[in-house]
Amino acid sequence: METEILKNTQIQEAADFLAKGLLVAFPTETVYGLGADATRPDVVKDVYAAKGRPSDNPLIVHVSGPEMVWEYADNSYKPLAEKLMNAFWPGPLTIIMPIQPGKLSKAVTGGLTTAAFRMPNNQTTLNLIKTFGKPIVGPSANTSGKPSPTLAKHVYHDLHGKIAAILDDGPTKLGVESTVIDLSVDIPTILRPGMIDSDDLLKVIDDVNSDHHKVTKTEVPKAPGMKYKHYAPNAQVIIVDDKNDFKQAIAEYVAKDVSMGVMATDEILKEVPEGIEKFSLGDDVYTASRNLFAGLRQLDNDHMQFILAQGFPDEGHGAAYSNRLNKSAGNTHYKN
Ligand code: TXA
Ligand code: MG
Repeated sequence: METEILKNTQIQEAADFLAKGLLVAFPTETVYGLGADATRPDVVKDVYAAKGRPSDNPLIVHVSGPEMVWEYADNSYKPLAEKLMNAFWPGPLTIIMPIQPGKLSKAVTGGLTTAAFRMPNNQTTLNLIKTFGKPIVGPSANTSGKPSPTLAKHVYHDLHGKIAAILDDGPTKLGVESTVIDLSVDIPTILRPGMIDSDDLLKVIDDVNSDHHKVTKTEVPKAPGMKYKHYAPNAQVIIVDDKNDFKQAIAEYVAKDVSMGVMATDEILKEVPEGIEKFSLGDDVYTASRNLFAGLRQLDNDHMQFILAQGFPDEGHGAAYSNRLNKSAGNTHYKN
């Protein structure tokens, strides 16, 4: 299959592909998603196949507005959900709620009695869902286990030949996936950190728990996706937590005569010697979050053995960045 790159104005073409039961990658404010008709189990199965994704990992249902959610979700958490939707939608918050029995297929929910709903803050995709008239499922549009795509060319690299089209809307603004909050428990719980953090959520709701501890292989994770190896380049990523350690870390790897790339803010990069591959994370944790996945992809070329990547404090908006970087590094940190 030829994969077509569509302009962000070619919404009707994209909707026509979806209506034919084909897969279309779509832009969001976080990362690109791999879209398919959420109401057709046969095409939802193709999403898993294209990504190589384990089938027990449920998908997010993307909607063009709250009214679309209530066709599928039951009303038990409606007051709470509406508070969150009013405050954060469209935006990078995915809300998990119980669904009306039989309303969404097992292919979407992974057999759970809940589903994840999200209204992305991207006008192209909101128009696409409106034009299509039904919700679309959308995991990140990468090969399972690889960094999520923040550019159309990342999607093309991983999935060309396997999907009908990519709706290209330029680079994504945030770069890390949405915050996932589960309402179907006693205290609303963050299952995946994102750019909306617990302080943001506490302005709107009374209580929130965080549950993004490392899930072991035998444990049944609350968000099934959290147990899989993720965002992993072929090169070994090493996190440098203290920016004053970069000089020494680089010297050690140069002495080992291995190939190495450095991913850091400009302040640090300007001290990095010539001849070492570099990728700029910009100025701060916000630009670093936006650039992280693109950096992992760019530095992870055929000959790269190690990537030294800058760490940021695991708090507030840094929690999302740290979560993704730690997964890509298998929690490997530089120790001097
Ligand atoms: O920003 C995003 O959320 C992107 C864009 C494309 O919207 N999408 C995305 O989807 O990151 P995905 O499939 O890569 O991540 C969805 C996460 C997974 O960890 C999955 O296990 C969890 O949400 N999830 C989905 N439905 C769930 C449910 N009913 N209960 C618990 N976890 C669920
Ligand atoms: Mg993903």
